[in-house]
Amino acid sequence: MKQEVRERLIFALDVDEFSVAEKWVQQLHENVGLFKVGKQLFTRCGPAVIEMIQRHGSDVFLDLKYHDIPNTVAKAAVEACKLGVKIFNVHALGGAEMMRKTVAEVDAYCAATKAPKPQMLAVTILTSSTAETLREVGIDRPVEEMVVRLAKLTQAAGFDGVVASPKEAALIRAACGDGFAIVTPGVRPSFASLDDQKRVATPAEAIAAGATALVIGRPISAATDPLEAAGKILLEIEDALVS
Ligand code: C5P
Repeated sequence: MKQEVRERLIFALDVDEFSVAEKWVQQLHENVGLFKVGKQLFTRCGPAVIEMIQRHGSDVFLDLKYHDIPNTVAKAAVEACKLGVKIFNVHALGGAEMMRKTVAEVDAYCAATKAPKPQMLAVTILTSSTAETLREVGIDRPVEEMVVRLAKLTQAAGFDGVVASPKEAALIRAACGDGFAIVTPGVRPSFASLDDQKRVATPAEAIAAGATALVIGRPISAATDPLEAAGKILLEIEDALVS
């Protein structure tokens, strides 16, 4: 499978043991371009898990969703660069100054060290949030309006893209134009169960709506043949890209 297609499939490494994570990386790296390391696995295993993934020739999406004062997020982002991750993310709700400072420090670090610049993404509104969740924290606006507003803020701050539901991808693509990355979880191929995901799309639907990469966990990990499941998803992504 072409590298260009493989890099659009990100496997959610939602496990808590180093050995289990390594088993998945060994099993899937042929068909999966990036492995997403989130708060659970990183808190348990730390940078060692990132080095392990890189040793196997794969790349890392460090999904720690930084949200703090601008200086703290910018410094954490530089540490993510030192780890050599391909993607990291923040919460757009941290604001424009937080994102601009992060871009400035990452740019300066990468220019000084000649390190490759990671793709910088922001989460707009978590897909677990509803209008009610927003109202509870004093935001009396529809979710879609906030998603588009935060995607535009992210773009204006110099970030590369957002993490968003496939159901929001078309709105974001229309608002932010081509060249803005939209990474979508909540993707379910027709052969997989919904699990606890509610607002799902197939890989083809997500790509057609403007997604540039897909985060997929259980449809691969719960399959009888996980490598084959990942291969089927790659074919679906490839078809959607040409059509
Ligand atoms: O197993 P599944 O394909 O549902 O995994 C999706 C991954 O994407 C999980 O790591 C989940 O935490 C993450 N995610 C999500 N919805 C979001 C953001 C992240 O499902 N809005």
